[in-house]
Amino acid sequence: MTGSHPALEGGPIFLDYNATTPVDPRVAEATLPYLTHHFGNPSSGHAYAEQPRRALAEARGRLADMIGAQPEELAFTAGGSEADALALRGVPLTDGPGAHIITQVTEHPAVLETCSALQRLHGIEVTYLPVDGDGLVDPRALADAFTQRTALVSIMTANNETGVLQPIAELARLTHEHGAIFHTDAAQAAGKIPLDVRALGVDLLTIAGHKMYAPKGIGALYVRSGLRLEPLIHGGGQERGLRAGTENIALAVALGAAAHIAEDELVAGAADRIRALRDLLHGRLDTLLPGLVQLNGHPDQRLPNTLNISITGVTADDLLSATPAVAAATGLACHTGSPEPSPVLLAMGHDPGRGLSALRLTLGRWTARDEVERAAEQLAANARHLLAA
Ligand SMILES: Cc1ncc(COP(=O)(O)O)c(C=O)c1O
Repeated sequence: MTGSHPALEGGPIFLDYNATTPVDPRVAEATLPYLTHHFGNPSSGHAYAEQPRRALAEARGRLADMIGAQPEELAFTAGGSEADALALRGVPLTDGPGAHIITQVTEHPAVLETCSALQRLHGIEVTYLPVDGDGLVDPRALADAFTQRTALVSIMTANNETGVLQPIAELARLTHEHGAIFHTDAAQAAGKIPLDVRALGVDLLTIAGHKMYAPKGIGALYVRSGLRLEPLIHGGGQERGLRAGTENIALAVALGAAAHIAEDELVAGAADRIRALRDLLHGRLDTLLPGLVQLNGHPDQRLPNTLNISITGVTADDLLSATPAVAAATGLACHTGSPEPSPVLLAMGHDPGRGLSALRLTLGRWTARDEVERAAEQLAANARHLLAA
């Protein structure tokens, strides 16, 4: 899909799709009747419940189709952070005190901060695996980290800053050989690349709606059939007892619609189209700034939409401030404005200068070729000005 999105018309060139995405107008259209008309509680016994109940089941089915799961293996949550929390707290708290978790240093704060809270509040032991210069976890380091008490391994599918894709199938296989459960945060991967929970062999997988053209505040956790989790929210038994609370039908419908569209777009070659534009952007910047552009993250094992580069001698904050016509990011979106180098880049062994220069340019459904060309020219011209100053 190309063309334009009403929210992006007349605005800066949007190259920040890993921070969030505009809601696809088709998703908004599918959602609207559940705000205006179908208000019923799906658990009620009367006619008002029928359409919401059907819509919820259909949305769950569509989301399940996108990742090769069964509908009953999906629990809707209020976003990616909550899905991560449900996985990370649900497993070790079921296992009891003294449980051990293994994760890695470039996870999103939704995982890292939950691990640190489990350590602080529940005495759960956490091992943080390192990454190499390309941002990858070494499966041998995982193999060496298991203990008798390892209950859970949590390694993200795709990194939000670099797009680096971890070897999930191999890490999940190793985890099962050691009798533990494997969770992956696929908030950035879902919708951008094909995902199949059976082929990956994962037990738990996080999805975030607003990274795949659904609204903010909706996500889901895939929970492999037969796996028992301690819920975060106790109450009315909704979502198979995993998350109490009357379901947000409108947002579930939105996520289902977004999943259905993402699947269709992937079949139609969306990932290849976006990868070609991403590589064009990289190539143009490289040509305009010879010898100055360093790629952060693995060159191939990477999301098709993500380009993280450091321009030698130019801090990303200065460059983006000088280029208001381009909306992009330096490191984490929630840390924008902070002068600290990206912890992800530091964990990859890069020096603070390269970390401060790290510019995240992420493309998506409405990125057009002429935008990529204009963005490259403007960023390169401003980088040259800053270098000359
Ligand atoms: C990898 C990853 N995990 C989790 C999240 C959190 O998702 P949400 O904003 O829906 O809570 C994000 C969002 O930035 C993310 O990039």
